[in-house]
Amino acid sequence: MKTKKRILSGMRPTGKMHLGNYVGALENWVKLQGQYENFHLIADYHVLTTTTDTSEILNNTLEMVCDWLAVGIDPAISPIFRQSQIKEHSELFLLFSMLITTARLERNPTLKEQVKDLNIDTIIYGHLGYPVLQSADILLYKGEVVPVGEDQAPHVEITREIARKFNNIYSEVFPISETKLTDFARLPGLDGNKMSKSMNNTILLSDSEDVIMQKVRKAITDTQKLRRNDPGRPEVCLVFTYQEKFNNGKTDEIIEGCKSGALGCVDCKKMCVQAINEHISPYTEKRNYYANNKNEVLDIIRDGEKRAQKEAVSTMNEVREAMKLG
Ligand code: TRP
Repeated sequence: MKTKKRILSGMRPTGKMHLGNYVGALENWVKLQGQYENFHLIADYHVLTTTTDTSEILNNTLEMVCDWLAVGIDPAISPIFRQSQIKEHSELFLLFSMLITTARLERNPTLKEQVKDLNIDTIIYGHLGYPVLQSADILLYKGEVVPVGEDQAPHVEITREIARKFNNIYSEVFPISETKLTDFARLPGLDGNKMSKSMNNTILLSDSEDVIMQKVRKAITDTQKLRRNDPGRPEVCLVFTYQEKFNNGKTDEIIEGCKSGALGCVDCKKMCVQAINEHISPYTEKRNYYANNKNEVLDIIRDGEKRAQKEAVSTMNEVREAMKLG
């Protein structure tokens, strides 16, 4: 008997993971590993919605998975697999595309945001259909819970709509998936914008303490705190957001020191870097191992693909039967 609910989590292969990925997703995935049954999807087809350049996809996939494994995703329990290697994704994507209107997809706020952020002047068909492919990702594995950041919640909403529609028209094949928002809000990048590889404002999980120090040293704190003893305002300080996350036990002390002027930004940054490093240094050894043994990483992914495909095939059989196809 099945006791654990199933999670389907996914990420586009963006290469080495940064603290934003860690705080916004990975940390949560690892935490949920015992409570749920987890499937970890690599959304390599989704990359093609915003670029035609495929040259880095495989390398980015391997780099990303090195970090997943390093932080504690256990591939023996939770399969890790690529969308592109399991043909059932394309098949279900096609069938789902008949169950949603273009008007509905044009209203997707995440699409609007991307169009603005990436300066896209005309939207390709596949990009409009991004959430439909995501729905196929989730429902192919009957994902009941989808851990995502806020920007992805509209896609889970579309997934629910498609599942309901399919179930109503054909038969009850799919669960109505729930969104599980990550507790910690988005971690800003070193420039205060969303932390993102394309913005060049990241701290990587694989960065050494020295590199992190170099990066954090340049971060802007409270622009009104000019000298060491000036009182500062933690609530407007970027470094304080990191402190809140990584130095959680010391936030009262930091607030007091900053406000009174006793704690200068240089010392505060040192404390912050140390705390970040304490968080991520336990992952270094494992990360290095996998980074030096990428064939092993690929084997792990291929093994995940075999296991995931079994589920995918079984769902597609149900879908075809429900639709009287074949
Ligand atoms: N769109 C998600 C992102 O950019 C990645 C993704 C693809 C995903 N398929 C998914 C996330 C299925 C959760 C479930 O972050």
